[in-house]
Amino acid sequence: MMNPPSSPLNQKPAKAVEAYTASLAFDRRLYRHDIAGSIAQAKALNRAAILTDKEMEIIIMSLVSIREEIERGEFPFREEWEDIHMNIEARLHDKIGEVAGKLHTGRSRNDQVALDMRLYLKEAVGDTLKALRQLQEALITLAEAHPDAVMPGYTHLQRAQPVLLAHHLLAYFEMLERDRERFQDCLRRADVLPLGSSALAGTPYPVDREFLARELGFPRISANSMDAVADRDFVIEYLAAASIAMMHLSRLAEEIVLWSSEEFGFVAVADAYATGSSIMPQKRNPDVAELGRGKAGRVFGHLMALLTTMKGLPLTYNRDLQEDKEALFDAVDTLLSTLGVFAGMVGTLKVNASRMKEATEKGFLLATDLADYLVRKGFPFRQAHGVVASVVRYAMEQGKELGELSLEEYQRFSPLFEADVLSLTVTASLAMRSRPGGTAPEQVRRALAEARRRLEGA
Ligand code: ARG
Repeated sequence: MMNPPSSPLNQKPAKAVEAYTASLAFDRRLYRHDIAGSIAQAKALNRAAILTDKEMEIIIMSLVSIREEIERGEFPFREEWEDIHMNIEARLHDKIGEVAGKLHTGRSRNDQVALDMRLYLKEAVGDTLKALRQLQEALITLAEAHPDAVMPGYTHLQRAQPVLLAHHLLAYFEMLERDRERFQDCLRRADVLPLGSSALAGTPYPVDREFLARELGFPRISANSMDAVADRDFVIEYLAAASIAMMHLSRLAEEIVLWSSEEFGFVAVADAYATGSSIMPQKRNPDVAELGRGKAGRVFGHLMALLTTMKGLPLTYNRDLQEDKEALFDAVDTLLSTLGVFAGMVGTLKVNASRMKEATEKGFLLATDLADYLVRKGFPFRQAHGVVASVVRYAMEQGKELGELSLEEYQRFSPLFEADVLSLTVTASLAMRSRPGGTAPEQVRRALAEARRRLEGA
């Protein structure tokens, strides 16, 4: 077995220090990326005449067999080799002896770990984009299943104006569409090869970095070796995009919690996505939505943690940077699992359309339309707003809804009210919002078709 890395230190680290500095427990998930980087590195060293063909071949073969060992669960992970990079290198030494030592020529764990993180992040973004699409798909499928369902739209959580349920759901589609753009944008900047930067100053060996980039699927190489080993802003960008996405999911979660309450009764979460209570037999709790809402805080925390970790670091590599891993890994896991269960929960949501419709009939949701009615008769909007406020106050005193007032009652407030005021309905109110982006059924139908098209093209 290879000796621990040579160093001027006379003493082995204390046991507690070994445990404190080790990252193996979490960075072992980078094993595939680390091995892919080492295979490319072996090829580049061969082209630079640092490894013979034979040496390159035996190194690559052994790296492949190490990957298989890890995948079969037979790899002898050793805590004393603090991280995944050292574990793989030590294992390579076990297998092929001295020649293993040549692989690290001109490479440092600093550019190695930066490479592994970028390779990992590229995959994570791919998975994230797919998972976002699944939830978007569930949202528009639900909207398509209820094209005519109307519900109150809210401001300040007070009933405001009638909208189509599909319009409400499409609002989330749009949020997730922007989330997808943010992740794609993050990927563009993460997609840069750091390998060849070595410890910080660049490699002194004639390795072809463009070749390494092609081998590892990067369209670009880093322009500055110090930046390449010291920077983690690509991780922070992922965490920021993940935080925004979790914030959106948390709002959706909050609405599902509200809407599935007895008080709203707009939707029911399917049994497979609800939980019971250990004491109250009648309960169907929306725990999945609540946990999604709760986990948003955890992802925001990772973003704040890494920003804070990095803000005072002098160039270049500092061990603090090891703290990027658990933050990123947990954010990826949390976002992917939340998107996955939310797609299932939304896809199986039962909508109570009649309950939603009933809710549009109480609470003066057509008051704005009544003001617009006066405006169409030539009355200025501000004054119309005042007249309608008086009508609403009167109706409230009478214990009536607007639809229950007679023409004579209306005319007490303005002579502009005529018989057609009585035909003001939710349906008419919706139809009126017919500009692009509005909730008129024809616009929503178009928006839904457009959303489908965008999803299929993605
Ligand atoms: N485990 C380390 C990390 O995640 C790898 C790089 C160590 N480099 C060093 N110079 N100590 O950052």
